Amino acid sequence: MMKTPKTVTAVIIGAGNRGKDVYGQYAQIYPDKIKIIAVAEPNEIRRREFASQHNLQADRIYESWETLLAEPKIADVAIITTQDRLHTQPSLQAMEMGYQVLLEKPMAPNLKECVQLVKKANETGSQLRIAHVLRYTEFFQTLKSLITNGRIGEIMTIDLRENISYYHYAHSFVRGNWNNLKKSSPMILAKSCHDLDLLYWLVGVPAKFISSFGSLLHFHPGNAPVGATTRCLDGCLATTSCKYYAPRIYIDIIPLLRIAIKSTSREVRILANLALHRPRIFNFLKRYIPSFRRIENYDGWPVSVITDDLSISGKWKALETTDYGKCVYFSENDVVDHQVVNIEFENKVTATFTMHGFSYEEGRTIRVDGTTGTIIGEFLDSGPKLTLYDHFEGSETIVLDQSIGVDTQSGHGGGDFRLMRSFIDSIRDNTNGDLLTSAKASLESHILAFASEESRLKKKVVSLEEFKKNAFSEN
Ligand SMILES: NC(=O)c1ccc[n+]([C@@H]2O[C@H](COP(=O)([O-])OP(=O)(O)OC[C@H]3O[C@@H](n4cnc5c(N)ncnc54)[C@H](O)[C@@H]3O)[C@@H](O)[C@H]2O)c1
Repeated sequence: MMKTPKTVTAVIIGAGNRGKDVYGQYAQIYPDKIKIIAVAEPNEIRRREFASQHNLQADRIYESWETLLAEPKIADVAIITTQDRLHTQPSLQAMEMGYQVLLEKPMAPNLKECVQLVKKANETGSQLRIAHVLRYTEFFQTLKSLITNGRIGEIMTIDLRENISYYHYAHSFVRGNWNNLKKSSPMILAKSCHDLDLLYWLVGVPAKFISSFGSLLHFHPGNAPVGATTRCLDGCLATTSCKYYAPRIYIDIIPLLRIAIKSTSREVRILANLALHRPRIFNFLKRYIPSFRRIENYDGWPVSVITDDLSISGKWKALETTDYGKCVYFSENDVVDHQVVNIEFENKVTATFTMHGFSYEEGRTIRVDGTTGTIIGEFLDSGPKLTLYDHFEGSETIVLDQSIGVDTQSGHGGGDFRLMRSFIDSIRDNTNGDLLTSAKASLESHILAFASEESRLKKKVVSLEEFKKNAFSEN
């Protein structure tokens, strides 16, 4: 008789956007796979909401990771979703106690701590899985299998672009959590360790040389429009012409409506079109048709990040008081807004990577050229698409697109939940599963990020061999 797989038990450390809205949501949808039995979260509103969503016992609700991990081990896994600078200590301690750990990327804000984490995983035998969710998406899995199955012959070169939409960049990297080195980590690590990880995985061997350029070119006071004030609501004269005007993004959610007009739901399309193009009619109908209030009641990302009070007055208050209401030209940001990276791998394959915060649409684009074929991929808000070109046949085959049916049930093109499924299955089967994102593999991408940063700052080509030698002798 087949044994019923056990339900994995978990503690969540950090019930913010990722902890509550991604991994917590997964547990609510799949209660037979994972049960969250405890939370550590200092923010009272989030802590209470999370505890009620998961029916936690009163003695399993903690205000910080320190108090939770001061108790003897109480679950199979620890899911660590605190901010970038608060990953290392809870992860080290959780592994020491025998927890299997799912840790958000980036592993840690500096190489020393990344190495410490990998060493601890080796020492304790704990699974330390890093949330490089993109490897798990159908899009990148298909791309990888086209390459490994020889569909383009020998891989020669890759161009990858991370096109961050203008409002996402402003939200996270000018006004938000990752806008400043002291708070988080270099942009190439915080945002693009995913991409460096993908390049390493697709090529299949470590990099040999890396160079990088980039700067903070746009978001500084010199580019503020005439009449701009330090906060959008303080009498700014550019409210009707500035695409970054905070109420436009967080109250009227214009960028999200522009995505919604391409929705597969007719109702959503109509609503978004009316709100965007016939605002007077929309505002009139809103008084009588409750579903029209969906826009002002919107509580998803990025609005969910600006406040825990998602009432209309709560949102306005957040714009009056938090960094999300600051002018993007007068914020405390210091991370780059565009950066390029060039890589030569050990097998002489080359790759370029561009990251920037000025895209009309969110998403990655990629081109892989091999000796017998070319793959062009779009991994965008509007849906993923992969096309394979065979040089000899002259054929063009759409290998994957939204209409073929792609698993985008969760964020990051379905990668968030697919990562969770893989992690949990590996615990249930007591194996390391398909361990696509072991800490050791993830370390390679983090090294690439730190080496890129060294190249960018020192304006030099970095040899990875030397970089690793120096890094490991120091650590
Ligand atoms: N895998 C991905 O693609 C992806 C996407 C977005 C964010 N991230 C990463 O996920 C992590 C979390 O991001 P987020 O957007 O959820 O951040 P968040 O700020 O929404 O959540 C972090 C939570 O940790 C809590 N916290 C602070 N101190 C704590 C303590 N001592 N003990 C327990 N909890 C504590 C905070 O109160 C907050 O609720 C970051 O490292 C981020 O870079 C990864």
